[in-house]
Amino acid sequence: MAIKLNVIVCSTRPGRIGLPVARWFESAVKKDSRFEPRFVDLAEINLPIYDEPRHPAMQQYEHAHTKAWSEIVKSADAYAFVMPEYNYFPSASLINALTYVFKEWNYKAAGLVSYGGVSGGMRAVQAEKLMMTNFKIMPLPEQVLIPNFPQHLDAEKRFTPNELHDTSAKAMLDELARWAAALKTMRQA
Ligand SMILES: Cc1cc2nc3c(=O)[nH]c(=O)nc-3n(C[C@H](O)[C@H](O)[C@H](O)COP(=O)(O)O)c2cc1C
Repeated sequence: MAIKLNVIVCSTRPGRIGLPVARWFESAVKKDSRFEPRFVDLAEINLPIYDEPRHPAMQQYEHAHTKAWSEIVKSADAYAFVMPEYNYFPSASLINALTYVFKEWNYKAAGLVSYGGVSGGMRAVQAEKLMMTNFKIMPLPEQVLIPNFPQHLDAEKRFTPNELHDTSAKAMLDELARWAAALKTMRQA
């Protein structure tokens, strides 16, 4: 059975670059028969700032938006977070979306696709990994890093990957497939 991979667009601002980058990554996943991608756009999901009265681990959700988000997170075997760097940090939209649920993230691997200026979002990725481990998410060392991203946008603002982006996406998917198979057994235990 194919690995269900949620490709999550983490930036929500109008005109975001995250969308074309995520579309490129999704197209790479679609070419790989080991995976079944699901495109998840945090702008469309539109979660308010965390507003549940109870700790997410209790899974006693009051709001329809949390129940819907819980289903989306739960449906995946693994994740690819397509994330910007804001102020050397992950975007508030990503931190908020992670905060909403807990068990739904547990024992799943995540690939991080980041972009930015000279750092390619690396500082945000390093900070994000700390938080992800609290959710028992395994963030892979195999990343896709896109420094100086404007160089890779065409006139229509489509993302045009170079060879390194393509090979790192492939390396990430290879590792995601291995981890997804191993962690499935932990979720069944
Ligand atoms: C609030 C804000 C903070 C930013 N901080 C950083 C930063 O720390 N490092 C960086 O490389 N780029 C930074 N940038 C520039 C972003 O890399 C660039 O705007 C990128 O397009 C953001 O991703 P998005 O278009 O998907 O929202 C920042 C942009 C915004 C809007």
